[in-house]
Amino acid sequence: MTLAGKRILLIIGGGIAAYKSLDLIRRLRERGASVSPVMTRAAEQFVTPLSVSALAGEEVHRDLFDLTKEAEMGHIQLSRVADLVVVAPATADLMAKMAAGQASDLATTLLMATDTPVMIAPAMNVRMWDHPATQRNLSTLTGDGISVVGPNDGDMACGEYGPGRMAEPLEIVAAVERALASGPLVGRRILVTSGPTHEPIDPVRYIANRSSGAQGTAIAQALRDLGADVVFVTGPADVARPEGVEVIEVESAQQMYDAVMGCLPVDVGVFAAAVADWRVKSASGSKIKKQAGALPVLEFAENPDILATVSQMGEGRPGLVVGFAAETDDVVAHATAKRARKRCDWIVANDVSPDTGIMGGSENSVILISAAGAEHWPRAPKQEVARKLAARIADALGGDAR
Ligand code: CTP
Repeated sequence: MTLAGKRILLIIGGGIAAYKSLDLIRRLRERGASVSPVMTRAAEQFVTPLSVSALAGEEVHRDLFDLTKEAEMGHIQLSRVADLVVVAPATADLMAKMAAGQASDLATTLLMATDTPVMIAPAMNVRMWDHPATQRNLSTLTGDGISVVGPNDGDMACGEYGPGRMAEPLEIVAAVERALASGPLVGRRILVTSGPTHEPIDPVRYIANRSSGAQGTAIAQALRDLGADVVFVTGPADVARPEGVEVIEVESAQQMYDAVMGCLPVDVGVFAAAVADWRVKSASGSKIKKQAGALPVLEFAENPDILATVSQMGEGRPGLVVGFAAETDDVVAHATAKRARKRCDWIVANDVSPDTGIMGGSENSVILISAAGAEHWPRAPKQEVARKLAARIADALGGDAR
């Protein structure tokens, strides 16, 4: 998703994680957002206003009683021009002041005066995070409608380990994108599987297929662009991972199955992955050596069918389950039979005969099979097919679920 035309009021609190807010500014601006930076006095101990303003391309706001600026832009106005206020890092002190409704400096005054949504990225020592006072403040703030990203577990600058590390800039950007998302799929959680799977033979060899992951990736992007909260479970695909979605990387069909089960419940499941139907029954733990005159014999075992399992779940079944069928002949007949056999709602069928150039190519020509029958879509770039499918999903779900 692009953040073009969006304005973020970024309040930088005084913690060691303030250095990450420099990267956050870059990442937000890369996506087209403008950033109005505000620094607390304590923040200036960790990063300089000069670095912040250089990266933001705007002056840093630091003082509550700056009369010149008050004439140009008052603090009330400053608090309201943004689409979103982001506090990163949100220190224990800043969270306490916010929860108590204090307006003792520019940052806290803006937070009191704003009528735009606020997101905080807490960062502090693990004990401070776990302290009942911080946890109390956190529930007050979430109760006030403030959204929270992180903190993550990890090694901390103070040498301890645990929750308290500020979320990474890209995680904050993804949360900002979600908060500012608009479109018919806002509030919907959608799972997309994508790419091939690799089924190990031994530690250096595997069985794979020609899926590039391009169509699944384009679908994840198109759903995200309509505001969906997308979780993307991908095998080792060639194409770059989509941004602004939750990505779970897997290798084998069994790992994909486990990852998918761990993501449920979702509103919609789109199963675009080219999952291997079989795996090598007992993959060797060490490299299989060549032996004169003796060829290795691989015994296969069937992989779990992820699409069929999810389609046939009783409770917890997604409201809409979309499968794919890659066929080389009798496409409609095979795909229609597959839809009935697996019991998914829709099948997106395509002809992957080598002469079509579809597998690994940039275009797709699909037939949507649903209860209403078979609908032939014109051959088009995979992005366009994805946008059309995403729009269909939005229609099927109807309205904003936020
Ligand atoms: N699929 C899945 N898990 C599997 C195999 C397939 O989720 N273990 C999903 C794919 O993501 C796709 C659909 O099922 O959405 C169709 O896969 P396909 O392999 O074509 O189906 P099969 O039942 O194996 O049919 P056939 O091999 O006869 O074409």
